[in-house]
Amino acid sequence: MDEQILSLSEQRTHQLAGLIDKSHTSHMELETVVDWKQGCNRSIRPKRFDHSGIYGTPHWDALSEEQRVELLWLENADLTSGFIWLEEGLPLIFIKLLHEHQERLPRHIYDYMMVFCKEEIVHTQMFRRYLATAGLPVLPTPIDVITDVLVKMHPVAGVLTTYLTELAAENIAVCQDDPEADPLSRRIFQEHHKEEIRHLAFGRWVCEAALETFTPEGKTNLGSMIRAFMSTLIPRLTVNGELGQYLSFDLDICDAEELARVQRSPNNRRLSQLRHGAMLDWVKRLGLAPADYDWFDPIVPPLPHAFERYA
Ligand SMILES: [Fe+2]
Ligand SMILES: [Fe+2]
Repeated sequence: MDEQILSLSEQRTHQLAGLIDKSHTSHMELETVVDWKQGCNRSIRPKRFDHSGIYGTPHWDALSEEQRVELLWLENADLTSGFIWLEEGLPLIFIKLLHEHQERLPRHIYDYMMVFCKEEIVHTQMFRRYLATAGLPVLPTPIDVITDVLVKMHPVAGVLTTYLTELAAENIAVCQDDPEADPLSRRIFQEHHKEEIRHLAFGRWVCEAALETFTPEGKTNLGSMIRAFMSTLIPRLTVNGELGQYLSFDLDICDAEELARVQRSPNNRRLSQLRHGAMLDWVKRLGLAPADYDWFDPIVPPLPHAFERYA
């Protein structure tokens, strides 16, 4: 066999075998994952109100209670749509990587990546049905899944990019949970989380093991790409500037400068630390970002070609 391009320690391989067994014995079924007949109650909020991207700004203060609830639902549709696009794109990346490197991947990593893909496809079906049940649109993708670029790179780039994106979205979903919110909305994210924690463990293990083998230069290159990607993704995950066109009222965020200001509001900085602080520490610990890096820093030049379109 060729030299392996990804690998795990004996202990991690054993743990991964456990994840594979767990996935085969306990997985989501679209029909039964939630009680779909329950429907959504759009007259109450779907998440914590202080997790709105505009909370704590004059744009929030100007809204009526009904308008705030409408906005919170649309923000939920935005997050759900992000999951749909990410998780429909992820199997494309993973299966292409598997085909490209199948001779150089340990059996358990290959097997788990296939299980991972299968689970993501069911998740996207659940999320699409949830939006249809709520009467909400699937919003355009916040990020383009750069399949063609990632599959030509070392496979850890694809695993790391999808891991960080999944973790960022998952952190938002977990933190916004509210016992007073619409029950079906809460349940959707709670059920999703049960399988996502396995995916996230896999991503973390594979990245940590691979980066141990990287040269300082390799880490610098990968880190530069990741920072360019995350410094676009994280602000965008606070407020989507295109939400206004789906609302029945004017959000009054009229230009890119104001949008950037709202994305970096004190509340969004607070939420970012709450949601993604541990992820930021991890990226730094792996040597992919300097100690003073923050997600809201301007995109680090020179922007690698692969990520140019995110600028
Ligand atoms: Fe998922
Ligand atoms: Fe996942």
